[in-house]
Amino acid sequence: MRASKFFNSLAGLLAGLTMVALTPALAQNSVKVGVIAPFSGPFASLGGEIENGIRAYMKQHGDIVAGRKIEILIRDTTGPSPEIAKRLAQELVVRDKVDFLAGFGLTPEALAVAPVATEAKIPMVIMNAATSVITTKSPYIVRFSMTLPQVTAPMATWAAKNGIKQVFTLVSDYGPGIDSETEFKKTFTAAGGKIVDSVRVPLRNPDFSPYVQRIKDAKPEAVFIFVPAGDQGIAFMKAFTERGLAQAGIKVIATGDLTEDYQLEAMGALALDIVTSHHYSAAHDSPENTAFLKAFNEVSGNKMRANFMAVGGYDGMAAIYEVVRKLGAKIDGDKAMDILKNMKLLSPRGRIAIDPETRDVVQTVYLRRVQKVDGQYYNVEFDKFDNVKDPGK
Ligand code: PHB
Repeated sequence: MRASKFFNSLAGLLAGLTMVALTPALAQNSVKVGVIAPFSGPFASLGGEIENGIRAYMKQHGDIVAGRKIEILIRDTTGPSPEIAKRLAQELVVRDKVDFLAGFGLTPEALAVAPVATEAKIPMVIMNAATSVITTKSPYIVRFSMTLPQVTAPMATWAAKNGIKQVFTLVSDYGPGIDSETEFKKTFTAAGGKIVDSVRVPLRNPDFSPYVQRIKDAKPEAVFIFVPAGDQGIAFMKAFTERGLAQAGIKVIATGDLTEDYQLEAMGALALDIVTSHHYSAAHDSPENTAFLKAFNEVSGNKMRANFMAVGGYDGMAAIYEVVRKLGAKIDGDKAMDILKNMKLLSPRGRIAIDPETRDVVQTVYLRRVQKVDGQYYNVEFDKFDNVKDPGK
């Protein structure tokens, strides 16, 4: 090497070192987690719950892991909006160089981002989106929430065992709704029950009145419902009550999305005694849940009650922390996936594990009844099915 060339490269090296020295060590070395979800629009509560769940975990565990600062980059899809979700994911990967993609309240948005995770080889940590097929769309997807078939099958089994023989189903007309309708029909009819009729309602702004009238006319013993968490549950229960279906003796059974904890207070007496099946209730009695709720209330300023999506955010973040603890300086996507797909956690909902074959969560599904506890409405657990996998896989 000629002397001048040697000195040039030495100068370059020194300049580089000076830059490293000038950059605050922690910030430069931070682990970036891009969180994609709706934070405004009709599904804003999904993003709010997920974010506060993430922040509750960080509040309990600090924001430095293995000497690296954990940085959260919040991105609002305003959705349901798959195109925006995909663009946001591409920006997070290319411009912000995130180590993890996370969040995902809505199925269509998760599906749109799957190819981005595959191409970038970046783990995609699903904190809610619950259509069964999602985890098959990329080997980089792992899910810490639930699947609709997983939480629906126990409801169908319970209904058949408890003397309900004829059911009308009403679901939201997209992935999770179709999954829950299919699973309910399969398990309920296999147990001897009969499906009287089925309707699917639009995902955006459904007007429930005509459907509720159809249910009333069909005179089933019960109606099985899936609507996404948020204010649709309240709209359905209002229409149900106004048209006198309860007086006509028609019961409501549902997945816990209908009576989710955040909306439950607003639904109030309309929801009393409704039986649902789900993986999390704010009334779950465990030290982990008590500590989680305390941290959640601190970070959310007591503005919202934690629901199942908050727990999805909290557990997804616990898993990300474990990966950073194990991999330290460099988060390699493939190594991260090996850790994520074998993850076991003691969650506020109970023990959970990821099934390494499907990268879906295996967990207890609870039967709950809406009751008033100390003047507030809660989903009170009264039965459970342990180690439930997604039945479709
Ligand atoms: C979904 O879009 O996958 C989804 C949204 C809200 C829910 C459940 C599933 O309550």
